[in-house]
Amino acid sequence: MINRKRLIRAVSLMLALAPTVAIGGDAPSLKEIMQGLRNNLVEISDGLLTDDFERVIQGATSIAEHPHIAPAQVQLVASALGPEMVAFKQFDNLVHDLAIEISASAGALDRDAAISSYQQMVKGCLDCHRAYKERVTAALGPEPEGPSAH
Ligand code: HEC
Repeated sequence: MINRKRLIRAVSLMLALAPTVAIGGDAPSLKEIMQGLRNNLVEISDGLLTDDFERVIQGATSIAEHPHIAPAQVQLVASALGPEMVAFKQFDNLVHDLAIEISASAGALDRDAAISSYQQMVKGCLDCHRAYKERVTAALGPEPEGPSAH
């Protein structure tokens, strides 16, 4: 018999991993991924503000392992950006690498290094937004489930 606690732990782990393994139509939209990144960014900020390194690691790891964007949306973004898709992807890589650095520094209890990488990462988020957010939002069109959409 599996005890209750272990079962709950196993189920929460499955739920935590679910977005990463989602494929095809189940993959989250870019907007959903971004909303997740925002929550993770808040976690990192909270952790840095309260010297809670575990929380920093948790948020940074989630950013580094964020789910992949649905293939249909990748197509739309790629056709809107053309060759600039490479630069778009580079921003994603930059944020990914800095998230790993934040996590490593937090693991080493190196607050200054974690803060420095955090600041660079936030700049990476905002630089991509400045360069591409408007165009990509336009290319992806209105959300399917938005009857009261603007
Ligand atoms: C590779 C480019 C890129 C990077 C890097 C990036 N974003 Fe975004 N972000 C976008 C695009 C494009 C949109 C618009 C998505 C849409 O309209 O569907 C967006 C939208 C958002 C939104 C608005 C979501 C909403 O509800 O409208 C938030 C919040 C956000 N990003 C947070 C972040 C955070 C936090 C990071 C860094 C950890 C980040 N983004 C990094 C491209 C990027």
